[in-house]
Amino acid sequence: SPWLTTRFIGRDLHYHELLESTNFSARVLAGTGTREGSVVVADAQSGGRGRMMRSWVSPGGVNLYFSLILRPRVPGIRVPQLTLLAAAAVHQALCSCVPEIASRIKWPNDIMVGEKKLCGVLCEMQSEPDMTHFVIIGIGINVNIGEFPDELRNIATSLFLESGRMVSRPELLASVLNHFESLYEAWLLHDDLGFVLPYLHEYSLVYRRQVIIRQTTGDVCGTVSGIARGGELMLDLDDARTVLISSGDCLLCRQ
Ligand code: BTN
Repeated sequence: SPWLTTRFIGRDLHYHELLESTNFSARVLAGTGTREGSVVVADAQSGGRGRMMRSWVSPGGVNLYFSLILRPRVPGIRVPQLTLLAAAAVHQALCSCVPEIASRIKWPNDIMVGEKKLCGVLCEMQSEPDMTHFVIIGIGINVNIGEFPDELRNIATSLFLESGRMVSRPELLASVLNHFESLYEAWLLHDDLGFVLPYLHEYSLVYRRQVIIRQTTGDVCGTVSGIARGGELMLDLDDARTVLISSGDCLLCRQ
């Protein structure tokens, strides 16, 4: 369906022509008690942010920048799993809206075409005084942007650059929200990501590949042997040990 068919995700939609960051606005809104599933969308961002304090290029009229507000009643330790859940939802939406491109999920939060980044997910959690927490899932998708700044040209791409055609932003947004709601409802019923692991493996960019995990504590090198039910990356080290990696930047080694 090209339209929104959800029960609650995206039923309250706050659209703005320009915001500093949809994650920032969603956080303010969530603090005022906005209901679960509310979505903040901006046509352009003046201070779009990525992980690790990086900026997210956010010109108007071409791409998608939006943030979901969730209030899952699960232990905070499970919340990072929502990053992979959102990435899976974006991937499923791309498969239905732009079937001619083959995108892959790069653990933990990117959608890639080849070695170039198409989409990023930024998941943030905040605890409230009553011990509950809310979660902001920010998603940026390079849709119809035709040209990137010099420094991004070799590492970023868009649906337009990959498919050679314009893709409808409202339709793609509706599709991401439709897919996300199904995955989120299943995730709330289960205790972990077990139910989407086959999907995450099938479309993983890093599965069975050699990677370097860059963490604040240093680099770890190994071969990815899977994604665990908790969303961690399973890494086979050179000394035959297997470790679970729960965060960090994942760099692909040359094949
Ligand atoms: C990353 O790859 O590091 C994550 C990028 C997330 C970008 C999106 S765009 C909508 C939302 N608002 C932001 O400021 N960031 C996220």
